[in-house]
Amino acid sequence: MITKPLQVGNVQLNNNVFLAPMAGYTDYPFRHVALKCGYGLAFTELVSAKGLIYGGRANEELVFCGHDIDKTAVQIFGSDPLSMRQACECELLKDFKIVDINMGCPVPKVFKNGDGSALLTDIHKAESVVKECVKSGKIITVKIRTGLKTGDDIATEYSKMAEEGGAKLITIHGRVRESYYSGEPDYNAIYKAKKSVSIPVIANGGIWTEQDADNMINNTGADGIMLARGGIADPFLVSKLTNTPNPCSLKEFIIEHTKQIEQYYAPRRAVLEFRKFISYYLKGLLGVKEAKLAIYSKEDFDRVREIINDIL
Ligand SMILES: Cc1cc2nc3c(=O)[nH]c(=O)nc-3n(C[C@H](O)[C@H](O)[C@H](O)COP(=O)(O)O)c2cc1C
Repeated sequence: MITKPLQVGNVQLNNNVFLAPMAGYTDYPFRHVALKCGYGLAFTELVSAKGLIYGGRANEELVFCGHDIDKTAVQIFGSDPLSMRQACECELLKDFKIVDINMGCPVPKVFKNGDGSALLTDIHKAESVVKECVKSGKIITVKIRTGLKTGDDIATEYSKMAEEGGAKLITIHGRVRESYYSGEPDYNAIYKAKKSVSIPVIANGGIWTEQDADNMINNTGADGIMLARGGIADPFLVSKLTNTPNPCSLKEFIIEHTKQIEQYYAPRRAVLEFRKFISYYLKGLLGVKEAKLAIYSKEDFDRVREIINDIL
């Protein structure tokens, strides 16, 4: 894949390979180590607009990004246009230039509230949300799916709506809500949407290898791609795609990640946060089952690191 710099609103990004928002994964420790591997931009996980307005430590933790602020966008969710705008304008987000609107979350709790992918059922409401957020002065981007049910394709009309509403970039996860995270992405839906707008379109879904990235770009003509689970399973996939030298070995990457987590969370929480990544990191390696069990039984990061040192 040939990567290139990308302009989003008045922000110039080094390249067009993004790290996806992933709840429970793309916290500061992971984004921080991942950004060193070459991403042009990384997203926080979805953060509740109302939560941001009312404040609280949990939100501070979700949006913290230290010196990575220039390469980090925050993603918010909600469906009340005014609250969404107020969230964009809140103190916690004052240093963020780019705010992304979640229109793809399939989770019932979010959907039932009319948020996330429920916005794909009401284009007028979705448009009001975009327009109101744009008034905040932030660079607004939108992340959608291709619809709710198999056979749906709302990507083109939503991309046009987002552009007309003032959004500066759209990310299309090429799957419908009912597919959650499985199945081939709908290349054609992304291709048609891309042709219909002049703002950059980022394609997402099922990119685990360089070949997948090539297929995505070749089949959709998108302006860039977003890695999600594939970016955790292979932290250096982005380095290969962007011709960035690997910043370190996989072992060093994982160890550094444990250190970042350790600094960020209280001890017990820290180990729990790290466990989520183990299956992704060690997939396919010999002796992994035993290592995983050993790691799961440890609450002490020094022991966890010893096990990682032994296996890699
Ligand atoms: C555990 C998990 C959490 C996710 N959380 C979010 C989120 O907070 N916001 C969002 O827009 N998408 C979220 N997604 C969707 C991803 O951003 C991405 O669109 C999806 O995983 C498809 O890409 P992939 O097939 O390469 O993994 C999440 C996906 C996973 C697996």
